[in-house]
Amino acid sequence: MPAIAIIGAQWGDEGKGKIVDLLAEKVNVVVRFSGGNNAGHTVVNQLGEFRMHLIPSGIFHPDVTCVIGNGVVIDPAAFLDEVESLRQHNVSTGNLFVSDRAHLIMPYHILLDGLEEEARGSGAIGTTRKGIGPAFADKTSRMGIRICDLLDKEAFRSRLSFVLEYKNSILTKLYGAAPLSLDKLYRDYCQYAERLAPYVRETDVILEEALEKGEWVLLEGAQGTMLDLDFGSYPYVTSAVAGGVSLGVGTSPANIKGVVGVLKAYTTRVGGGPMPTELHDECGDQMREGGHEYGTTTGRPRRCGWLDAVVARYSADINGFTSVAITKFDILDAFSSLKICTAYDIDGVIYNRPPAHSALFEKCKPVYEELPGWQCPTSNIRRFEELPSQAQAYVRRIEELIGCPASIISVGAAREQTIMVRPIP
Ligand code: GDP
Ligand code: IMO
Ligand code: MG
Repeated sequence: MPAIAIIGAQWGDEGKGKIVDLLAEKVNVVVRFSGGNNAGHTVVNQLGEFRMHLIPSGIFHPDVTCVIGNGVVIDPAAFLDEVESLRQHNVSTGNLFVSDRAHLIMPYHILLDGLEEEARGSGAIGTTRKGIGPAFADKTSRMGIRICDLLDKEAFRSRLSFVLEYKNSILTKLYGAAPLSLDKLYRDYCQYAERLAPYVRETDVILEEALEKGEWVLLEGAQGTMLDLDFGSYPYVTSAVAGGVSLGVGTSPANIKGVVGVLKAYTTRVGGGPMPTELHDECGDQMREGGHEYGTTTGRPRRCGWLDAVVARYSADINGFTSVAITKFDILDAFSSLKICTAYDIDGVIYNRPPAHSALFEKCKPVYEELPGWQCPTSNIRRFEELPSQAQAYVRRIEELIGCPASIISVGAAREQTIMVRPIP
């Protein structure tokens, strides 16, 4: 039976946490495959409201196995804090496993993330300063330390002393910062190792066995397509699209039978970089306040604007969405008319895809079409046919523009505030 990937269609914060928590009811395994604790996935269910950073949003279903795959970078302190906070809410972590191949976020990654941001000055990316970029850079440049290294104390000390000497010379000579102590870092991480060890597994095997048994697997994306290293608005990027799933968990792409794009009914972005439909007026403020558009991880106000269908179509193409879950639909209840960006205009030249170059992307002016709003509450509606005709037309137009059907319409943060339009995938 299939593995289904859940992918953010925009710049993150589309509501992936809600959709994963909802769909996890029907699956056996949920796996995070990318990013780190830069992610902030909010889940609202009968147990309360939770902000998940590393642990898959399927954790609230006691029978579901939750896996943090090899493609995720792990800050052990953040992981252990999250486990503890779930325990305090009586959420079991007995079925939670972490890949032995996952790379660790080390204190020098967090320091360097901040120092690199300062050095970028006005070109700052606006990172979450959790050490994500430096940890992924070390993975690629073969300077990383993995969970399996951490579990072998002698090998860990020898690897750490080699890497730390290099990192300390960058910290001191390039940035004039204080060096980190090898002994302290070693001691702290050995303590984490003891607490992490019970969770560590060859997680690709868990996945393989589940798929062989015909079980359902959900692959929980973090961030969004426009934050992808290759296809996002480089350099204002961080993470992976659907193509990264197999690498991030260790399964063949042939096992992925469906890709659900999570598409917010309007657009938000947090951090720097181009965003053609950003609004600096009362409509943008209304989206931010109505939609509580403040970062789950950093609390920063999110930049808000009309739905960018150029981005949505591009995401659908790049990821091969088999359907989309349109979220935060209820936030548009308040508007008398709605705009959708269908193309970009740069000095009279029309663009139908986001340009690769961020300077060109910055210059893109949205070409809008306008649709009537519905101006009535949708949060209590559970069937598509019961939506006001204008709301149905908005969904139909999105489907037409992006070339992919809607499977879910989310009309509130809670699990039950959902309209199932068609089965997944
Ligand atoms: P994620 O990172 O993609 O999981 O999204 P976030 O959790 O960062 O941001 C989405 C926010 O919108 C969270 O506060 C959710 O609880 C909330 N949310 C999700 N779906 C809906 C919805 O359909 N309507 C409303 N009003 N809120 C929603
Ligand atoms: P979820 O999974 C929104 C953004 C940051 C910054 C850029 C790089 O909740 O959708 P990083 O700290 O990753 O090096 O920052 O990426 N960013 C996110 N924006 N949602 C996220 O995650 C994000 N994770 C990173 O704001 O612009
Ligand atoms: Mg988020």
